[in-house]
Amino acid sequence: MEALAALNEIAEQAAGCQQCSLYHSRKHSVPGEGPADAELMFIGEGPGFHENEQGRPFVGPAGAFLEELLDSIGLTRKNVFITNVVKCRPPGNRDPQFEELEACASYLDRQIQAINPKVIVTLGRFSMARFLPHAKISEVHGQAVQVRGRWVTPMYHPAAALHQPSLRSTVEADFRKLPDWIAKADSVKDYEIPSTPVQDTNSEQLSLF
Ligand code: URA
Repeated sequence: MEALAALNEIAEQAAGCQQCSLYHSRKHSVPGEGPADAELMFIGEGPGFHENEQGRPFVGPAGAFLEELLDSIGLTRKNVFITNVVKCRPPGNRDPQFEELEACASYLDRQIQAINPKVIVTLGRFSMARFLPHAKISEVHGQAVQVRGRWVTPMYHPAAALHQPSLRSTVEADFRKLPDWIAKADSVKDYEIPSTPVQDTNSEQLSLF
């Protein structure tokens, strides 16, 4: 199926999804948005208050910071695909639970397959854990890590950087590396044969630029 049609189908299915209990309290599902051929894909944690109201990802304070970060490398949110590991808001912005992450996993897998981005940027620990369950964010943030043929760059969540000023410059510096990672992904053929992200990646399977 063509990428745009696949993304639209995923969004429609997420809107009516009842595969975990988060649907009880959602106002809008938040499947994600951006071009179907985006080179960069950002994966956050889950919708918060503003996202649940509007049905769009990263439209609150963390989103404003994400937009600033994109601007710092000459991009806008229209150039990239932005989504989350769970598509409905966990009540009170609590952490998503295992059952919710599991129930929502196939939506994200299918989005990745449809878009086939050159580089995935994970924002925060739940997103990183999808690709690098054993990694420590303090050790791998800002690096490009190959996970079964897919280039993944883990970053601190923008909301964490807003709350901890010391992380802000770290996230800003990590963002400045992204154009290099995209260019290098171009020179590495492997990203053309990606596979669905796996839960059991161990350190032997990682290769870093
Ligand atoms: N935080 C996230 O992780 N995702 C959003 O969409 C908004 C805030």
